[in-house]
Amino acid sequence: MTTIFFPNILDDRGAAEFSNKVLMSMAEPELIFDFGELDFVEPFGIMLAAQALRYAFMKCNKDNSNVGVRFLNLTDDDGKLRPSVNRLIFFNFFDHVNWNIYEKGKVQKPALECIPIMKITKQDIKAMEEVNFMASIKKYSIFLSKILFSSDYKKEIDIISYFFSEIINNVFQHSKTDKCYVVAQKWRKDSVDIVVSDEGVGITESLAGKYGMKDNIMAIRKSLQFGISKDSKNVNKSEKTGAGLFSISKIGEKMGGFSIFSKNDLLVFEGQRFSMFRLPMVGTIVKVSVDLSNSESFFAKLEGVIAEGERLASK
Ligand SMILES: Nc1ncnc2c1ncn2[C@@H]1O[C@H](COP(=O)(O)OP(=O)(O)O)[C@@H](O)[C@H]1O
Ligand SMILES: [Mg+2]
Repeated sequence: MTTIFFPNILDDRGAAEFSNKVLMSMAEPELIFDFGELDFVEPFGIMLAAQALRYAFMKCNKDNSNVGVRFLNLTDDDGKLRPSVNRLIFFNFFDHVNWNIYEKGKVQKPALECIPIMKITKQDIKAMEEVNFMASIKKYSIFLSKILFSSDYKKEIDIISYFFSEIINNVFQHSKTDKCYVVAQKWRKDSVDIVVSDEGVGITESLAGKYGMKDNIMAIRKSLQFGISKDSKNVNKSEKTGAGLFSISKIGEKMGGFSIFSKNDLLVFEGQRFSMFRLPMVGTIVKVSVDLSNSESFFAKLEGVIAEGERLASK
């Protein structure tokens, strides 16, 4: 019997440590998940922890081991759902993990705008019926951004849909799966976390054919450089090949934060701080945090970042 505590804060770091314990404990005959210390949850933490649990349980079913699961401290002493558990429920965390442990009717909606974990398939994108797949992704991304910002916030919608479309496009172009998951949260007036995950092949395998890299962390870091792409030409010729993750990560670092998990390793960039975590599971998860309160010249800044990347890469 092993007890795994949800961390005090389910952010990138908290979720990484939690996920690691989950992935290391799958041989245990009985697992207890304790929510008693959990106070705060963030979108990336929700997605990472859920993906680890999905992977771990999928694996242990396959291996035919018989993990029994129990839950502790879902409610406070007065019998009410803990607020943090309430938020996990609202964000579809338990549905995503396939844990059926609560009554739906009791859930309270958080005060801030958010997108609970949402599955997006290739079919959903195609249903946008634009001239091509990239244009359909753009339209879908605008639809997602409008869940977070009302139509008056045109500038914010442009910026947020830029991030969504780059990351979602990468899933369908590179991950060899036909679905992804999105989760997002608008914090204060203008600060947003956007997270997109897939359960596909991961960056190392995707880039291996062209660059022959084996080291996972090196491959992930390389994917963040300007001009690095598994393709020689972007399907959408108006966009530069290999500029997507480069610009997203640079802008994320400047305007809030950037985290990327891809098969086995998580890299977290927060201002000057950089951390890495080993997590033996599949897929890719990208998070950008952006503070939009000072975003007047966002697209000019973006052009500048890309031009600088191009200049350095051509040296
Ligand atoms: N979700 C993903 N799954 C697998 N590989 C990915 C994913 N996202 C990005 N990659 C890899 O990282 C590379 C760089 O991505 P990006 O900078 O967006 O450039 P591009 O999409 O133009 O190739 C891709 O060519 C691909 O090999
Ligand atoms: Mg791309």
